[in-house]
Amino acid sequence: MSLQPAASSAAPAHVLFEDVHMAFGGRTVLRGMSCEFPRGRISIILGGSGAGKTTILRLIGGLVRPQKGRIAVAGLDVTSASEADLYTVRDKLGMMFQGGALLDSLSIFDNLAFPLREHSKLSEAEIAKEVRDKLAAVGMSGVDHLLPGQLSGGMVKRAALARAIINRPEILLCDEPFSGLDPISVKRIEALLRHINRELDITILISSHHVPSTLRLADQVVLLVQGQAMVGSAQSLRTSPDPMIAEFLNEEVDHSRALDLGFEPERRPIL
Ligand SMILES: Nc1ncnc2c1ncn2[C@@H]1O[C@H](COP(=O)(O)OP(=O)(O)OP(=O)(O)O)[C@@H](O)[C@H]1O
Ligand SMILES: [Mg+2]
Repeated sequence: MSLQPAASSAAPAHVLFEDVHMAFGGRTVLRGMSCEFPRGRISIILGGSGAGKTTILRLIGGLVRPQKGRIAVAGLDVTSASEADLYTVRDKLGMMFQGGALLDSLSIFDNLAFPLREHSKLSEAEIAKEVRDKLAAVGMSGVDHLLPGQLSGGMVKRAALARAIINRPEILLCDEPFSGLDPISVKRIEALLRHINRELDITILISSHHVPSTLRLADQVVLLVQGQAMVGSAQSLRTSPDPMIAEFLNEEVDHSRALDLGFEPERRPIL
């Protein structure tokens, strides 16, 4: 099977893009993108630098609005939602940002406790239990007193993942969770994402350049090509006869190897 322009899936859509157009000034990023992200599955958005991967995650969170088209998140149209409705949607989302986006001056414990102190009515004792449970879930017990700057890159990613799921989201958005990690840390994050998906029943959307992990992890691959989505399984991507897809995969595999060796190209901050 080759990749399809917009396949529909057996599982119901948890996030739905319909004919979405998005431009920043004169720069068009999405040109009528349509795509379903199925509930309970891991979808990975692949595309070259500047293809619009981070933009898609920001559109889902209602951080930017498209010029045209509809985006439904857990049944709510975020393109026309009021700020109050967007707040309800964001409550259902966990976000793991590129680079971790942990607060440098707060300990790991306080970084994880922060969303709970802001958004829940839990007591400090209940918050402490939640934080320690989540740190244990990502294999980071005993580091809660450290500052983010005292952790390795892989540990920062794991702490960011723990923080992204602390509010028990329905949908987890991860921007480049594998960038800058060595192969062992990549596999560790993959295992955590799989665990979060299966055990906590959280729909996961990942933006990534990392082709090897995409082929291992994705239930569905969304390849961004010229502002539109090509949708298929990891297997269909691997065996696609489309020369453009094969070329993209080869280039990105080389890029992923470079990342695995520690050469990360300079990236813009996402927010
Ligand atoms: N707030 C903004 N203002 C202006 N241009 C923007 C803005 N956000 C994104 N863009 C532009 O939109 C395009 C897509 O950006 P985006 O960050 O979504 O790409 P990406 O696929 O995530 O790239 P990368 O792999 O480098 O992270 C880029 O050309 C970028 O310069
Ligand atoms: Mg990006």
